Amino acid sequence: MIASIQTVKALLDGADRIAVLTGAGVSAESGVPTFRGADGLWKDLRAEDLAHPEAFSRDPRLVWEFYNWRRSLLADCKPNRAHHALAALEAHAPSMLLMTQNVDGLHHAAGSSNVIEMHGSIWRVKCTHCSYTAEDHSPLPELPRCNSCGEMLRPDVVWFGEQLEPGILHSCVESAAHADIFMTIGTSGLVQPAASLADLAKRHGAVTVEINLDPTPNSGLVDFSLQGKAGEILDKLIP
Ligand code: OAD
Repeated sequence: MIASIQTVKALLDGADRIAVLTGAGVSAESGVPTFRGADGLWKDLRAEDLAHPEAFSRDPRLVWEFYNWRRSLLADCKPNRAHHALAALEAHAPSMLLMTQNVDGLHHAAGSSNVIEMHGSIWRVKCTHCSYTAEDHSPLPELPRCNSCGEMLRPDVVWFGEQLEPGILHSCVESAAHADIFMTIGTSGLVQPAASLADLAKRHGAVTVEINLDPTPNSGLVDFSLQGKAGEILDKLIP
């Protein structure tokens, strides 16, 4: 693996266009539970049971309880070495695009600016009825209401069964298709369309790199599969 790390480091140093996709594993070293890890269940419910429009229609109070729990947990979390290394990489390669499935805001907190939050942000709310949206880091009521029309608010995140905004998907696909090097970091590669971006990048000629604690469906497809903690490996790649 040391040889692979040296090779990937040299490729990153020489690359013009770098595209990076991150998932929950990047925030694990900040103390944020991943979705499919051992600590991924909340009240015995899976993310798919809560991050879903039908779950919200059925029991908005329960879904808000889950998101308010995650917001309070995240309020105490700081970016880790992986977030900082990726921010440093952007400073060195300003055309780099960082696509994240994470809604925790930790890439921005680390200083990355060219970030696409594919699944939205847990720190934003939007109205279920009108076009009101707002960023709000303060603790929210059990069932927050819209300041504009009084209807129920929901987290401004993309739920299962919902489409990514077309502009966001377009930017991700373009970035993957034109990348010299595409890195997928800390994601199980199970949720589409993010899961297909590494394959798309490879088919368009990018060198592809995966960093993950465990093998994933993408491990056999990428050019370099680096197994270990994102913070430790990125520290070596981007010292
Ligand atoms: P998952 O929880 O599915 O996967 C996290 C991945 O991170 C796993 O493959 C772990 O092996 C890996 N991992 C854990 N700790 C790590 C570490 N320290 N360093 C490197 N890798 C580590 O999370 P995502 O792939 O992000 O969507 O999940 C994708 C989407 O499914 C999420 O955005 C969310 C979720 O349900 C919605 O809510 C719509």
